[in-house]
Amino acid sequence: MHPLFQTRPLTVLGIESSCDDTASAVIQDAPGSDPVILSSVVWGQTELHADFGGVVPELAARAHAEKLDLAVEAALAQAGMTLQQIDAIAVTAGPGLIGGVLSGVMLARGMAAATGLPLLGVNHLAGHALTPRLTDGVDFPYLMLLVSGGHCQFLITHGPERFTRLGGTIDDAPGEAFDKVAKILGLPQPGGPAVERAAQAGDPSRFPLPRPLLDRPGCDLSFSGLKTAVLRARDAAVTEHGGLRVQDRADLCAGFQAAVSDVLAEKSRRALAAYLELAPATPVFAVAGGVAANQSLRAALTQAAAAAGAQFIAPPLALCTDNAAMIAWAGIEQMRAGKSTADFVARPRWPLDPSAAPLIGSGKKGAKA
Ligand code: KG4
Ligand code: ZN
Repeated sequence: MHPLFQTRPLTVLGIESSCDDTASAVIQDAPGSDPVILSSVVWGQTELHADFGGVVPELAARAHAEKLDLAVEAALAQAGMTLQQIDAIAVTAGPGLIGGVLSGVMLARGMAAATGLPLLGVNHLAGHALTPRLTDGVDFPYLMLLVSGGHCQFLITHGPERFTRLGGTIDDAPGEAFDKVAKILGLPQPGGPAVERAAQAGDPSRFPLPRPLLDRPGCDLSFSGLKTAVLRARDAAVTEHGGLRVQDRADLCAGFQAAVSDVLAEKSRRALAAYLELAPATPVFAVAGGVAANQSLRAALTQAAAAAGAQFIAPPLALCTDNAAMIAWAGIEQMRAGKSTADFVARPRWPLDPSAAPLIGSGKKGAKA
C-alpha cells in the first residue's frame, strides 16, 4: 500500500453481502477530524426467506448478484460521488455464506480492475469489531461483544487486524435463539423484538430455565439447551391448561430473556476481568449486533461494565446490525495500518483470532468462526 495512504484523507467504498443484507456505503476520513458516513445503503432480504425458517444460501446469493451493483450505484449517488472520487474499494471477503461473499468479491474485483483502484478484502467480524472506532473514536485495546442472529463472541480488539477471542457460542447465536423461541411461542419474526415486547408483561421467575455453561470456567456460551427448555415448558403449560395462555407466553418470554441476560452478563464480567489485565488507559466495553437492541440485556451489560470501571458503548442500531459502512471503515483502518491490498480469497470461515480453538456452531446465518 502506498505510504501516503497512512496520512492523507481517504474516501472508501464499502460492499457487504455475506449474509442476508445487500449493502454498500461511502466513508470519508481525514486525519484530525471525525470520519463521515456519506452514505449507507442496506437492502434486507427478510421477505425472500420468510417461508423457509432461515436464510437460504442460494436465494441469498442470487439476490445479492442481482442487486449489488444497484446498491453500489445508490451508495455513490447518495454520497454525491463518482468512482473517480473514490480512493479504494473494501469488500467483505468472509466469513459468511460463500455464494453471497463471492457475489461481492467478484463485483469488487471487476470494479477494481476497471478503475485501477486498490481493493481490500475485509473480515466481516472485523467490520463489527472496529465500529466503535468509527462511531466513538475508541482507542485500542477495547473489549467487544458481538451478539446477533449469526454471531456471538467476546473479542479484545488490539488493532485493525489483531484480536484475542476470549470465548463464543458453541451452538446457536443469541438472536437465533430469540427467533426460535418466538416461533415456539407463536410470535412473529424477527423474534427478538416480539419476545422483548411480550416479556414486558411477564414474570421472569415463574419458569425455572437453565443458565447454560455458567458452571464452566471461561467465556464460552451456549443457547441451544435454553431454547429446548422453553419448548418443554411450553408443552407442559399447554398440557396443563389445554393451550398456551397469554400470561404463559409472557412469563416464558420474560424467563428466557432473563436467562440470556444473566448468562451474557456473567460471561461479560469474566471477559472484562481478562481484558482489564491488559491495564488499558481508558477501559471500554462495546457491543454490536441486533440483539444489543434488547433493553434488559443492555441494562445488564451496562451494569457489568460499570462494576468493572469500564465505559459501555453501543453504536447506533443501524451500525450495530449488518451494513457496509463498517466494511468501508475497516478498509480505511487497514489502509492506515499500511496493509497490502495484493491478494485475498473469499472465505466461508475466517476466525479473527487464528490461535483460538475453532467454534463448532454454524447456524441459520452461516459460519460463526
Ligand atoms: O445483527 P442482526 O441485524 O443480523 C444478523 O444476525 O446478521 O441481528 C438480528 C438478530 C435477530 O435474530 C433478531 O431477533 C435479534 O437480532 N434482535 C433482538 C432484538 N432486536 C433484534 N433480539 C433481542 N431483543 C431485541 N430487541
Ligand atoms: Zn454481522
